[in-house]
Amino acid sequence: MHNEMEIRFLSLSGNEGFARAAAAAFASQMDPGIEELSDIRTAVSEAVTNAIIHGYEQQTDRIVVLQMEIDNDMLTVVVKDDGCGIGDIELARKPFFTSKPELERSGMGFSVMEAFMDSVDVRSEVHVGTTVTMRKRIMHAN
Ligand SMILES: Nc1ncnc2c1ncn2[C@@H]1O[C@H](COP(=O)(O)OP(=O)(O)OP(=O)(O)O)[C@@H](O)[C@H]1O
Ligand SMILES: [Mg+2]
Repeated sequence: MHNEMEIRFLSLSGNEGFARAAAAAFASQMDPGIEELSDIRTAVSEAVTNAIIHGYEQQTDRIVVLQMEIDNDMLTVVVKDDGCGIGDIELARKPFFTSKPELERSGMGFSVMEAFMDSVDVRSEVHVGTTVTMRKRIMHAN
């Protein structure tokens, strides 16, 4: 089976829940297990939260793009912003690294994405934006 979708939404924190639900609804076509579905929602939620909080520094009038693609049992999820970008991607991906300790972030977002998805690719350019691409093979078992 092949399928694709793209949604664009404003960088309002209230849209994190919308993105998570939309991602789960789309991925449901693959007949994932409950745990797999929960992994996908969590990973999407982390990436979208990052776009809003870090990429757009909480400006609420910017656009976050969520793209998903199903290719047989392989799910690809892309979360994109055209915000501030990441200067040092390797550092940003380290567990417990956060540039916003004052917001009580724990610096675990990328680690969570890595734990719950099979692969996480981060492309970013300062002042241009960030694209996070995550892949997961869906095995169906609960
Ligand atoms: N879309 C983005 N645009 C700009 N910077 C980002 C983006 N995503 C992540 N970062 C940078 O990478 C760091 C690490 O992200 P990560 O999600 O791992 O932790 P966090 O968001 O700081 O904390 P947590 O996710 O645990 O609340 C962030 O603190 C931020 O500096
Ligand atoms: Mg985060």
